[in-house]
Amino acid sequence: MSARIIHGEEGIRDSVELLRQGGVVGLPTETVYGLAGNAFDPKAIARIFEAKGRPLTDPLIVHLPEASWIERVVRFSSLEQREMVKRLAEAFWPGPMTLLLPKHPELPDLVTAGLGQVAVRVTAHPLFQKVLSRLNSPLAAPSANRFGRISPTSADDVRLELGDSIDLILDGGPCEHGVESTIVSIQGNHLEILRPGPITEEQLKEYGHVVSPGGIVNTPGSLPGHYAPKKRLKIIDSDIMSFPAKTRIGLMAFHTSVKEILGEFTSVELLSASGDLKEAAANFYGALRRLDESDVDLILAEPVPEEGIGVAIMDRLRRASYGSYHGTGHQDSNSPA
Ligand code: TXA
Ligand code: MG
Repeated sequence: MSARIIHGEEGIRDSVELLRQGGVVGLPTETVYGLAGNAFDPKAIARIFEAKGRPLTDPLIVHLPEASWIERVVRFSSLEQREMVKRLAEAFWPGPMTLLLPKHPELPDLVTAGLGQVAVRVTAHPLFQKVLSRLNSPLAAPSANRFGRISPTSADDVRLELGDSIDLILDGGPCEHGVESTIVSIQGNHLEILRPGPITEEQLKEYGHVVSPGGIVNTPGSLPGHYAPKKRLKIIDSDIMSFPAKTRIGLMAFHTSVKEILGEFTSVELLSASGDLKEAAANFYGALRRLDESDVDLILAEPVPEEGIGVAIMDRLRRASYGSYHGTGHQDSNSPA
């Protein structure tokens, strides 16, 4: 784990320097940490895919410091589309919303995996914004984890995931939201949520007719088995669950109720003592990572209410549990690693 964790003004300077030379850097956003490279430098983009072990068919999100940069990476197909983006940008940027829009021809095809659309967002994190402005180029940045694994919400988590394959991580403290941005595809005045996140269906409804797919959607790369721990994970449901004697179980509790009912666990993580969904989201990936590293055979997760950011938490929990129900969720599996 050789990656250096850097801070503050000096950290910003070193990050910009490395990015100028075509390097990649772990950077904080308000959702999860990203692994950033210059979006217009195909060598840097290739390094991102390599460091993550990510297939080249899975496109990257492009980050901008402000909405006024959008036409560097997007070519609008109609005035109507430009107007819709303007309204959404005024409401939700900078912030955890990613929009799928027609790609600018000069943006390297590697970024979008050859697709005609690019995913763009304006991050609210001041350190990321400063790096973007000083570099004066958009940055492509997927979450800074090995492909298919748990997204990092702290600089230390990035080092655990990618410490061997990158040089620098800029420390911006723990991430505010803790789950990835909401991905929205725009068709006329229809807004389709491709990945639920901190910006909710309720919030988007004011701006268009929202199509929110039930169940798990497959955008390229949004595989059902994503965000997966190495351990088996089950979501607690109303069925009676029984496990072989001596199964060592780790519990991810939403709030205190389940802990009292279920008794003995090898380890317990509590997402929010007061049952606050935003707090639960911010703690979610860290708790999952600690349970995964603890000495348990199985992780049991208490479901959270599917409202607000709870929709995103349940989406990630279902993906994390997918392999456990389909026999592909273990270390020796063929699920994304
Ligand atoms: O909050 C976030 O969005 C974080 C931070 C770092 O910005 N980023 C993130 O990136 O979650 P990533 O690459 O881990 O997830 C992006 C998802 C992937 O499932 C990818 O397949 C999809 O967005 N995506 C990206 N570009 C796309 C495109 N042009 N068309 C369809 N899906 C796209
Ligand atoms: Mg990711």
